[in-house]
Amino acid sequence: MHDRIVLKYAELLRLVRKPLWRFWHNLILGRDRDHTDVRVTFLNYGFAPLSGNPNTITLEPRDEPERFPAQLYHRALRSHDVNGDTVLEVGSGRGGGASYITRYFRPKRYVGLDLAPKNIRFCNEYHGSDRLSFVQGDAERLPFADGSFDTVLNVESSRCYGNISRFFAEVRRVLRKHGVFLLTDMRWKDDLPQLRSRITAAGFTIAEEENVTPNVARALDLDDRRRRGMIEQKIPKFLARAFGEFAGVKGSRRYSEFVSGRMQYVSMLLRAAV
Ligand SMILES: C[S@@+](CC[C@H](N)C(=O)[O-])C[C@H]1O[C@@H](n2cnc3c(N)ncnc32)[C@H](O)[C@@H]1O
Repeated sequence: MHDRIVLKYAELLRLVRKPLWRFWHNLILGRDRDHTDVRVTFLNYGFAPLSGNPNTITLEPRDEPERFPAQLYHRALRSHDVNGDTVLEVGSGRGGGASYITRYFRPKRYVGLDLAPKNIRFCNEYHGSDRLSFVQGDAERLPFADGSFDTVLNVESSRCYGNISRFFAEVRRVLRKHGVFLLTDMRWKDDLPQLRSRITAAGFTIAEEENVTPNVARALDLDDRRRRGMIEQKIPKFLARAFGEFAGVKGSRRYSEFVSGRMQYVSMLLRAAV
């Protein structure tokens, strides 16, 4: 039953989506509290090249355990250089991506925003620095003035928002002129045309778009042991199957949907049309 809820959450009625999402993430965080040795700082499916050496980036030893999710962030940056930028990440989760980008790509300031208050408390304690901070908020009502950011980043989060057009309008509002919006997420294959038309209706042009679904599936293959280990270590037995779906372990329906291409994972670079 729990695993079915996990798979269906994005299709649930708008009203219950947000509380369910908040509950789910607070549950994960609650389970992580006692294990200070192995922290989960990313909540995405990861990225790997389709063959050969699976490493696309050089990482410090402390970042190695979460290599594939970090590689998804690296891919999400695409051709864009954030050095010296003021960056907003919407749906920053447990801050692994925000920390990775701030340390390796030197933006002037990076703000992570997430709906789950526990995520924000954890992130400010664990990753916070003079250039990196986290605030609680809703993607559909961004608590920032117009034109505050050079770049907005959004990784594996937009699919669960109640009103995606409102989110896009908010991103457009908080971006400066010539700002860049980096959007990386999954959709049912049949829903992609509608996503593209909502993006352009909100005043963005799609400068780059890449289908990374096979790369995400390969990352799940390569990361399977770590994901299963985390579930075994942190999740009560009765929820293990549901978390297996959430984590996309091999054999889960989510994993099969990526392999079949029914669910597509796309990475886009969008420019605010002037
Ligand atoms: C699958 S996690 C991805 C987290 C992170 N981007 C990563 O890749 O590790 C999705 C995140 O989106 C957040 N989220 C969901 N709905 C949101 C909303 N309406 N506003 C802001 N954040 C939201 C969740 O709390 C969660 O942390």
